[in-house]
Amino acid sequence: MSVRYDDKSERFILETANTCYVMQILFDKYPVHLYYGKKDGCCEVSYMNPYKSFSPYFEEHGQNYSPDVGMAEYSYFGSGDFRITPLRIKNKNGDSVTHFTYDGYRIFNGRMELPRLPYSEADSDTQTLELSLSDSVSGCRLKLFYTVFPNEDVIARYALVENKSGAPVTVEKIMSLMLDLPTSDFDMISLYGAHNAERSFQRVPLFHGVQSVMSRRGASGHQYNPFTALCSKNATEREGDVYGFNFVYSGNFLSETEVDQTGFTRVSLGLGSENFSWLLKEGDSFMTPEAVMTYSEKGLGGMSRNFHSFVRAHILPPEPFEKRPVVLNTWEACYFDIDEKEMLRFAKSAADAGIDMLVMDDGWFGARNNDKAGLGDWYVNKNKFRDGLKTFVDRVKAHGIKFGIWIEPEMVNPDSDLFRTHPEWCIRCTDRESTLSRSQLVLDMSNNDVVEYLKKSFSDTFDGIAIDYFKWDMNRHMSEVGSPALPPERQGETAYRYMLGVYDLYRWFAQHFPNAMIENCSGGGGRYDLGMMKYSTQIWTSDNTWPKKRMKIQYSSTLAYPTAAMSCHVSNPRNICANPDELKYRWHVALNGPLGYEMHLPNASDEIKETVKAQVAAYREYEELILRGDFYRIFSPFDSNYYAYYFTNAERSEFLLSFEQSYGESASRVYLFIPEADENAEYLDTVSGEVFSGKTLTRGIEVKTKETDPYSVMWHFVKK
Ligand code: DGJ
Repeated sequence: MSVRYDDKSERFILETANTCYVMQILFDKYPVHLYYGKKDGCCEVSYMNPYKSFSPYFEEHGQNYSPDVGMAEYSYFGSGDFRITPLRIKNKNGDSVTHFTYDGYRIFNGRMELPRLPYSEADSDTQTLELSLSDSVSGCRLKLFYTVFPNEDVIARYALVENKSGAPVTVEKIMSLMLDLPTSDFDMISLYGAHNAERSFQRVPLFHGVQSVMSRRGASGHQYNPFTALCSKNATEREGDVYGFNFVYSGNFLSETEVDQTGFTRVSLGLGSENFSWLLKEGDSFMTPEAVMTYSEKGLGGMSRNFHSFVRAHILPPEPFEKRPVVLNTWEACYFDIDEKEMLRFAKSAADAGIDMLVMDDGWFGARNNDKAGLGDWYVNKNKFRDGLKTFVDRVKAHGIKFGIWIEPEMVNPDSDLFRTHPEWCIRCTDRESTLSRSQLVLDMSNNDVVEYLKKSFSDTFDGIAIDYFKWDMNRHMSEVGSPALPPERQGETAYRYMLGVYDLYRWFAQHFPNAMIENCSGGGGRYDLGMMKYSTQIWTSDNTWPKKRMKIQYSSTLAYPTAAMSCHVSNPRNICANPDELKYRWHVALNGPLGYEMHLPNASDEIKETVKAQVAAYREYEELILRGDFYRIFSPFDSNYYAYYFTNAERSEFLLSFEQSYGESASRVYLFIPEADENAEYLDTVSGEVFSGKTLTRGIEVKTKETDPYSVMWHFVKK
């Protein structure tokens, strides 16, 4: 039983393989938080509320309980907790104060479904605790859900508010997760970034006050990722306490952390209140998206591996094919300049190199010869593909490879048939001009007519054609947010309803094209989040494929997300890298996730073609480790000149070790340790053919850095 109520101590206890979460109902009214951390001794913790508050406190409890200090399970705006509060509801009297008290609980197997939202799938070990609360003045009821995934040390959190007041209320803020911790002796890790520089690593000490990361862009964005972590100051890759938090959602979010007057820390994660409000009529309810949290005493690496196994087991879609396809993508080689003849040259060169799939990127539809026109017109451009899409795809497949295609469903160019017919189908505010970006506007996905139109349009174009993969792009953020289809009092719902429409369309794609996989993309890795991972087998990590920058993006992405989802391409845009050694470096860097190529392979030299062929064949040997192995980081490219890591299998009989040097460095020695190796065994490195003792692996493999760059080395150790 991972969830139980202990009658003796009157506590709720949520247990996973290595962690424990404890709470109690104080004075039969208030769910207070007692403990979250490692399992040993967790049930002995006593209630901690050592300080009286200056004000206010509840007189009936003899000044011993103030909502403004100590640890709560959830908090409400306006009733004396002056810290960040996850819930604010404007009631029928016009104020936004609520004061919820405990009514009861329920423990059940499995989990609640979150209608129209992505969420983690339960298995036979999953259990949920539901706490019910109510506020008599606003007439609202609140349910807090804790879904426990014991095998991966993850707890999912979500909340539901129901209006029973007899009049409409407005939900102004409702966060998915709140967690109070009895110390602030933490560093906070967050991933900030920009287009072409997604997910840079930042680790800073917590300070008194509120620190937050957020998006108000309508997408999770390149600029801040919804993942954050709190770690003890001494936490390393292998040791120290680490709490990780993430959001299973792809639109606006707010992750806030406050260190309060007593040095306690409060974390809150959810939709935030900017570009969000929700009108709740009598009898209606609103369910939040899901947030997830994990704890590990095994440092950053432990936290990452918890999240990796959790996302692989409970979020990512099932593998679509027997083998994850190695792709050849046409974007960097061709941009919009594509036609059937050229694409068939790509198909042949892909097949010759053992590549599994041709992905035809932007430029195949409507009047799409550049980024100024065509978005929204999802029919094939007959000037480029005279015999139509089906015949073309059949010709690609005659080479014995799979076929993938680029789409950007959520967007429209004003220069398109769709916009000329339905100008009212865009996100916009009444009487206000909309700002263009990349010559495009955002379609109003909150309007079901738009979603239905897109379904029909893609169905007309793709039905009966054996498409194996969709690259689903999204190339601008939302400004002037409003929906012509919603009344004024519901305009604040636009951005959230937009995401529900996007998810509806994703689910439709998965059901309507069950044999195809989806790779999500947003101007590179601008929607690299757990919401997208629910529907996308992999995500395009970044448009930046320059290895020295790319290794940083990949390093940080692995903090929260499994390498199985991190699409990594060897890029060689205009065959600028004609030297097989440089291509080898690019390939090493790309071996951090599922492999692909962005290069003009048909025009490459025979030597380069042979190099690619050998790389694809070698990747096949490592693929299982890369997609499903346990991942250990050794060096961070943010701290040093190197990125180093290894993958290993459950039996610890295989290790794929990688060392990548960013810049040339006068000869020095670096040691790479693999403590999981068996000291008494010998290992064959299948790359060099050399045999290494287990002791060498555990005590450090020596690397001599090179003065010249690029430089990288890889070892594939197999236990003899
Ligand atoms: C942005 C993506 O990140 C690129 O890979 C490419 O698909 C272009 N869009 C196409 O317009």
